[in-house]
Amino acid sequence: MSADTHMQDVLLQAKTLSKHYPVSQGWLKPKGLARALDGVSFVLARGKTLAVVGESGCGKSTLARQIAMIEPPTGGELWMAGANVAEADRATRKRLRPLVQMVFQNPYASLNPRKKVGAMLEEPLIINTALKRAQRAERAHAMMARVGLRPEHYGRYPHMFSGGQRQRIAIARALMLDPQVIVADEPVSALDVSIQAQVLNLLMDLQQGGGVAYVFISHNLAVVEHIADEVLVMYLGKAVEHGSKRDIFKRPLHPYTKALLASTPRIDPAQRQQKIILSGELPSPLAPPPGCAFNNRCPHASAHCRQQVPPLHIFEGRQVACHRIAEIS
Ligand SMILES: Nc1ncnc2c1ncn2[C@@H]1O[C@H](COP(=O)(O)OP(=O)(O)OP(=O)(O)O)[C@@H](O)[C@H]1O
Ligand SMILES: [Mg+2]
Repeated sequence: MSADTHMQDVLLQAKTLSKHYPVSQGWLKPKGLARALDGVSFVLARGKTLAVVGESGCGKSTLARQIAMIEPPTGGELWMAGANVAEADRATRKRLRPLVQMVFQNPYASLNPRKKVGAMLEEPLIINTALKRAQRAERAHAMMARVGLRPEHYGRYPHMFSGGQRQRIAIARALMLDPQVIVADEPVSALDVSIQAQVLNLLMDLQQGGGVAYVFISHNLAVVEHIADEVLVMYLGKAVEHGSKRDIFKRPLHPYTKALLASTPRIDPAQRQQKIILSGELPSPLAPPPGCAFNNRCPHASAHCRQQVPPLHIFEGRQVACHRIAEIS
């Protein structure tokens, strides 16, 4: 938690959240456990954006599904608006659920092709409110205006829209119940680069106007640099570095963060770093290597790194999980 976050601003807290999936390893072999998410903790404050970054398969979407209460975690705790979600009674859960909404990567798959925009936006209101038809239509029109859709779009089907407009519809739908947190899982990755900035700017405008917090998931650090307040870097289900965007982009410390940043094109030439190529394969979450999960790809790995899991600890104003951080930074 950053120093300027007060407890009353905390909307959502993950405490060593884990999701281990049982997976079949083949005929007659015992089931293995994929440690898709393995003890991730963070605090999300009102109106802030936490970016979660890391390579494909590091557990970003798994984390998203736990936070959005789509699946229950297998370990740890999720706290929402002061309540432990797993221990909440039915009434509390019913109250908590609308507070977190999701926006998915692919706006072609996430919108029902048989529903018109207006009906799609009003659906959450039918389920969760007692508003009358005319009031629902009014809310839908107001939301369309907020996300930059025109009134005539109300009666149109998703196939009549471009990718960027579809993502506006998905964002509008996510906002209909006035959530406090939006979990956006790669929300601009499927869009043309020219459209990405428009959608990112829309998300930022909506945050300024309404105070919604984002968990913004992306493998693209250039996008994250635009939108984040804090950055959480994941590797094989675990956080390896977590701090303010400023600190992490200015001076990444974990060798994995350095490699990720070095492989991201940067606009500012002064920020361009020597390219560090990530060698070696990302290990399987079914059989993570002993010690630091990054050891087989790390240029600094020692015998100790191959034996002991490095704990996340505070170093230079952020959290880092690296045994050798003091020597190599
Ligand atoms: N339902 C499941 N059963 C078994 N393993 C799963 C399941 N869901 C995810 N995994 C595994 O967990 C790991 C993390 O997957 P996840 O989809 O969360 O990664 P990601 O960071 O979102 O990747 P990407 O950038 O490709 O979207 C992967 O190894 C994946 O195969
Ligand atoms: Mg994913």
